Amino acid sequence: MAANCAELGEVPLGRRLLGRDVVLWRGASGSVNAFENRCAHRSFPLSHSRIDGDRLVCGYHGCTYDSDGNCVYTPSQPKVPTGMRVPVFPLLEEPPFVWIWLGPPGASGGSEPPRNPWTSDPGWSTFGSAWHVNANYMMVHEHYMDFSYAPILHRRDVPAEIDSMPAFNDIEVTETTVSYTRLLPDAQLVDWEADATGLDRDVTYKRRESGTFVSPAMHRQYWELATANGERYTTTRTHGITPETETSTHVFLQASRNYGLDDHAVTDRLTSFLAGVAERDTSILEMASAHVGYDGWRGGVEFQADAAALRARRIVGVMLAKEAGRSAIRPGLAPTSRRDSLSPRQPVKG
Ligand code: FES
Repeated sequence: MAANCAELGEVPLGRRLLGRDVVLWRGASGSVNAFENRCAHRSFPLSHSRIDGDRLVCGYHGCTYDSDGNCVYTPSQPKVPTGMRVPVFPLLEEPPFVWIWLGPPGASGGSEPPRNPWTSDPGWSTFGSAWHVNANYMMVHEHYMDFSYAPILHRRDVPAEIDSMPAFNDIEVTETTVSYTRLLPDAQLVDWEADATGLDRDVTYKRRESGTFVSPAMHRQYWELATANGERYTTTRTHGITPETETSTHVFLQASRNYGLDDHAVTDRLTSFLAGVAERDTSILEMASAHVGYDGWRGGVEFQADAAALRARRIVGVMLAKEAGRSAIRPGLAPTSRRDSLSPRQPVKG
């Protein structure tokens, strides 16, 4: 994932993705483009250019590129040097996300980005944000997949009755995905839940925390509250997770809910709540990364709460081995099951 759509506006956006410096920009026609962030003249960063219609004008001497990366104007001479161009990367804008292909041209295998219907379904309300973590991308994935830290790290955001997260009720694994579910003890609402849903604080509710490792580029988490009469209040976090380098990661969040759809106060409350969550998550991950890095992180003792994260780690290990052209033996995966077993529409059980 390269960006949230809303990030691409009137000025070019420079971003390092998988170790490559890229400039992302949106032309006047609305199309999105990605070039190597390096002018073909003096290698000036094209992120410091200006957009002129559907062209990008270098901020140094004014060389101008069309959306195919071809230089169509050079200063001080009437003829553009033959073949002068910048490398272009394929982009796919599927709101709310912009996806990029940085591999060899044509090697994407026809794969398509994962669909997240609740980010566009009129029965849901969604807003986005993005941030940066100085930690390996798998630390970010594994952090989100092991939510057992929540009663410690996010103490005020989890009901007092839930002083430790129960074991997973279910983990389902496919060749490329891991989905997990845990049912939580009945409990009253904490502040963010009460403020966002408008439900009665003095009543106890059932909860389910679940999630899916969708791909190395995406994780989803669902937090579901169920009332006694079966109403479900679901808050989802769809995380785009893109390595910047081996030790740093971009996170693109879309937060969705199936309640308070047009209520800006609910959006504001969830925005501030989730910003606080992201800040604490980032702080913990950066401390761990600075201390031991991903090698030290994955060298520790494992326990039950790590079960889903370990399966995702194996999947990524197999993908990396395949990419490196080696044969790979997949250790201990469960039998293949349906691709994405948890939909946010599923009722809370128990
Ligand atoms: S460096 Fe871009 S025009 Fe000279």
